[in-house]
Amino acid sequence: MNEDPITMLNSIESEGLSAIETAADSGELEALRLRYLGQKGELTAILRGLGKLDKDVRPAVGQKTNEVKRALTEAVEEREKSLFEASLGERLKAEAIDITAPGTRVRLGHIHPLTRITEEIIEVFYGMGFNVEDGPEVETDYYNFDALNTPPSHPARDEQDTFYTDAGEKVLLRSQTSTVQIRVMERKKPPLRIISPGRVYRNEEVNARKYPLFHQIEGLLVDEGVTFGQLKGTLNAFIQTLFGKPVLTRFRPDFFPFTEPSAELDSQCPFCEGQGCRTCGNRGWLELLGCGMVDPEVLRGVGIDPEVYTGFAFGMGVERLAMLKYGINDIRYFFANDLRFLRQF
Ligand code: DAH
Repeated sequence: MNEDPITMLNSIESEGLSAIETAADSGELEALRLRYLGQKGELTAILRGLGKLDKDVRPAVGQKTNEVKRALTEAVEEREKSLFEASLGERLKAEAIDITAPGTRVRLGHIHPLTRITEEIIEVFYGMGFNVEDGPEVETDYYNFDALNTPPSHPARDEQDTFYTDAGEKVLLRSQTSTVQIRVMERKKPPLRIISPGRVYRNEEVNARKYPLFHQIEGLLVDEGVTFGQLKGTLNAFIQTLFGKPVLTRFRPDFFPFTEPSAELDSQCPFCEGQGCRTCGNRGWLELLGCGMVDPEVLRGVGIDPEVYTGFAFGMGVERLAMLKYGINDIRYFFANDLRFLRQF
């Protein structure tokens, strides 16, 4: 050592301290620690060289070396702490949440108008003791037609052209929920009081009133001594509850293969009270649904004795009722998934 070791230690100390105190990041600090305090560092070198010094200066140099070592070690720890705090502060700032910022609004979804009116209709009939039954949408022509008194040559089949499967003409998408009448009567014996909501299909061109997919709700009541008067009373009660006010109705003779007699239920137009308006096409009346007394042939087909039991049945189009109730003029709105439409309900 050419220089005086104490002077050298002093300059190592002051240089080291200022370098450590200004180290920009933990990488730089670690490099400084190794340079001054490491196994191959400057202080270690001095300690190793102690033996070569004069005996009388040795203790002072040793003591000074240790002092410098302690001072630098403390400085490193100090700097480490302040670098950590600074980076923590920065992270907290970057990740800070502004609790005064306005929140993100979560839009609540809601029930589709068809689901809504279906639930309303079920509720009304539930109150009159009807239970919900379900049936398959992919059907055989037996349940869709034959068992409903509509054999292959029957002209009523033409009105309900539907979609057929690869399995041939015998397997089809049901064109009416009346199929469920048969399926239920096969399984259960009277007294029966059921309604059955569900999808039906027809091979039809799309327009404002027709869509190849729509929904129906079927009703069936079979018991001893059921009359047409009870059918009228039941449906009148239903219509009044659905529209929420007294509504004049009329039963017009009609034809369905599986009911005899058959009728179409009209209500006085609830929008114009029979005066004639756009909704009712100036007729003052609206066709609501088909109904009738279950044909004895149908009962016989499922093993129910028509001499003992009678019944009534009805079937309504859900879209049609929803269009009337909510004043919707195009069936396509139900299936277009347009939120501007759906949010109105
Ligand atoms: N299934 C018939 C249709 O789709 C509607 C219908 C009419 C159902 C009379 C019935 C009924 O149960 O008795 O046009």
